[in-house]
Amino acid sequence: MKIDILIKDASQVATCAGCDRPRRGKEMSYDIIMEDGWVAISADRIMGIGKGSVPREIKTDDHTLVIDAMGKTVLPGLVDSHTHLVHGGSREMELALKLEGVPYLEILERGGGILSTVKSTREASESQLMEKARRSLDIMLAHGTTTIEAKSGYGLNLEDELKCLRAARKLDGQHPVDIVSTFMGAHAVPPEYDGKKEQYIDFLIQEVMPCVKRMDLAEFCDVFCEKGVFSVEDSRKLLTRAGEMGYKLKIHADEIESLGGAELAGELKAVSAEHLVAVSKKGLKRMKDGKVIATLLPGTSFNLYMSKYARARDMIEAGLAVALATDYNPGSCPTENLQFIISLACLKMNMTPEEVVCAVTINGAHAIGRGKEIGSLEVGKKADIVVMDVPNIDYLPYHFGINHVDKVIKNGRLVVDGQRLVY
Ligand code: NIG
Ligand code: FE
Repeated sequence: MKIDILIKDASQVATCAGCDRPRRGKEMSYDIIMEDGWVAISADRIMGIGKGSVPREIKTDDHTLVIDAMGKTVLPGLVDSHTHLVHGGSREMELALKLEGVPYLEILERGGGILSTVKSTREASESQLMEKARRSLDIMLAHGTTTIEAKSGYGLNLEDELKCLRAARKLDGQHPVDIVSTFMGAHAVPPEYDGKKEQYIDFLIQEVMPCVKRMDLAEFCDVFCEKGVFSVEDSRKLLTRAGEMGYKLKIHADEIESLGGAELAGELKAVSAEHLVAVSKKGLKRMKDGKVIATLLPGTSFNLYMSKYARARDMIEAGLAVALATDYNPGSCPTENLQFIISLACLKMNMTPEEVVCAVTINGAHAIGRGKEIGSLEVGKKADIVVMDVPNIDYLPYHFGINHVDKVIKNGRLVVDGQRLVY
């Protein structure tokens, strides 16, 4: 077989291989790493991987790109399983309020927060939204992210939700980063439905969700289940109907208040419950029973000035599968850099480097329904690979705040070389 790319002599290869479902609890740190390894790529697939020197059967020729990874670490392309990619405008003006101590939910109540982004998003054209999101995708790719989930939820009417979801779908076709879309019309109640939340939910269920599904614009459906936003009852109604329409389920649960979103995720067998800073013990138990992945977003605690971070250790000890993501959005977490999240997860949530690597690769892939294709380095999987200029995975969280990427291979193609985009 023709080898298109051969990566050799890597000091570590984080294979994350050997488990065909999300890794739970202790499994998050077993057999993640292979010392001194190589990876061979043919077309868009991994066709060989091993330890030590490259065996003779792996035949290279003049056209093979040989990457010498001596002193470097090879990982699966990072999976950012929770982002709000497509939106208009930015919210740096909220920084002063935040520094004065005005809480996040109060900014939203005052008509700022998510609602100010809704205004900018409605005002932007589809192509303006695409250009902004494209720049973010470039930053993500340059930092080693090769697949993301992208939620809608800043349009909050039929026309603008469709505009955002179309933008994501077009970008998925145009940009090397793969995008899995989530419909999140229940992100906030828009101003035209102020005081009429029930009617807004019915509008989503009767008009928007069937239309998004018909147009095949989103695979998942998500709800912001939070005090003052959507209650557990609202979320149950919306997600139950979403499930019947064929959406897979996600839920923004127990981010700020312990409302019972995690319990609901377990009850509905959602694929993931996300945030979980204020989750209860019972919530964790229900998630375990329902095999719900815990998607943690420490960048949001950091940026919202919260002293509390999600209790990752309790979750791992309870045997849950944990994924980590940026939550990239203009309000609670304006960063595309998953490497920074890796550092926060270690330093603020006591996760080990192995657990963190597992959480941004194979578990992230399962959290967006792509665990069979990506998220680990094994023969037959897609060749989505990052070469980091670090001697081992411990170095990644340790040397924080900078970009360690040397090369990114997406679908078997070199797309980042020496931190420069070359696609
Ligand atoms: O995941 N929590 C709700 N939604 C986003 C924040 C969106 C915003 O502030 O614009 C989040 O944190
Ligand atoms: Fe979010």
